[in-house]
Amino acid sequence: MSFLKEHPEWIISSFVKNSNFKFKKKKILNILPQALIDDAVKSISSWENYKTTPLIKLNKLRKKLSLKEIYYKDESKRFHLKSFKALGGAYAVKKISGKNKITVSTATAGNHGKSVAWGAKRLGIKCVIFVSEHVSEYRAKSIRKLGAKVIRVKGDYNNSLKECIKQSKKNNWKIVQDVSWKNYEYIPKLIMAGYCIMIKEIFIQNKKKSFSHVFLQAGVGGMAAAVIAGFARYFKKIPKIIIVEPDKAESVLKSIRNNKSVKFKISQESIMGGMSCGEVSQVPWKILKSSVNFCVSISDYMVKSVIFSMAKKDFSDVKIEGGECATPGIIALKSICFNKDIKKKIGINKNSKILLFGCEGATDAKMYNKIMKK
Ligand SMILES: Cc1ncc(COP(=O)(O)O)c(C=O)c1O
Repeated sequence: MSFLKEHPEWIISSFVKNSNFKFKKKKILNILPQALIDDAVKSISSWENYKTTPLIKLNKLRKKLSLKEIYYKDESKRFHLKSFKALGGAYAVKKISGKNKITVSTATAGNHGKSVAWGAKRLGIKCVIFVSEHVSEYRAKSIRKLGAKVIRVKGDYNNSLKECIKQSKKNNWKIVQDVSWKNYEYIPKLIMAGYCIMIKEIFIQNKKKSFSHVFLQAGVGGMAAAVIAGFARYFKKIPKIIIVEPDKAESVLKSIRNNKSVKFKISQESIMGGMSCGEVSQVPWKILKSSVNFCVSISDYMVKSVIFSMAKKDFSDVKIEGGECATPGIIALKSICFNKDIKKKIGINKNSKILLFGCEGATDAKMYNKIMKK
């Protein structure tokens, strides 16, 4: 039996090598300037209860896959919001509000809205959050708990964003969106700058040493592009960058394949809700198009099993709390290791030192508990 046949459940759905790869630090830091990154890092690290999130060694998984090292940045410990999204929205709200009592708004799949609501609560300003019909009631409730008004919109994320823009214009609310469009770039850049603190932390935690490969989840691409800018800002050696998306929403992969930002309609929502996006955001695309080495997509099939395994210490000596969007790095890495051809193309071998991002913890506790009971 071949190696692959023994592991039929670990599968890469699509694979693309970026033929336009040309990593240019200077260009990246022109798009997301160092001054923005440094200001965000300085501001966030002064917030009450700020703490560096753990960089966990997945030593058991490393052994199983015969790799040198696997590190997992555990964002389930990010403030009490349990995702890296806490860094972006809340920082942008603080930055744009100044002393004015504005009302802020946004559309969200969950975690970004929570961050904006938390930022507004800390400043005592009003906040209105738009969610689609696919966002769970648990997520909507946790946003309401932070004092925001939640408006449900029929249809998908795009509908919730359209409604947010319409109502915000009418009511003079300030939109704090993690997606950029024409003439709306400054706030998404602030949000991305907030995410960059993860890389400053990793730079210190890993004693300024770099990695061979970094796996980055993408929805609209903001986090992935911010991490790349963070690497450009802090690290001398730039690792190979691999984007991971749900195969139901591979907008970065399709855009890289076509060398232009491609928009498509999502026919079925992925369980990895925060990554179920049909279009790459404009600012991230400017960074991603030439600094990503490879893109892969994965199905939802192994998500629940990986969440379970993380909690049961199958990959590491410590228990890891991971939500759906925390799993793609592990799923992609393991699937690549079971596919000789792709593994070789990406250059993963016994000397590889991998960095993965555990983007969220149990941000939907109801769903998490259901998975853990199985
Ligand atoms: C919870 C969550 N939301 C969203 C995203 C995607 O981020 P972005 O939309 O900036 O690409 C991720 C990343 O995987 C995530 O974990």
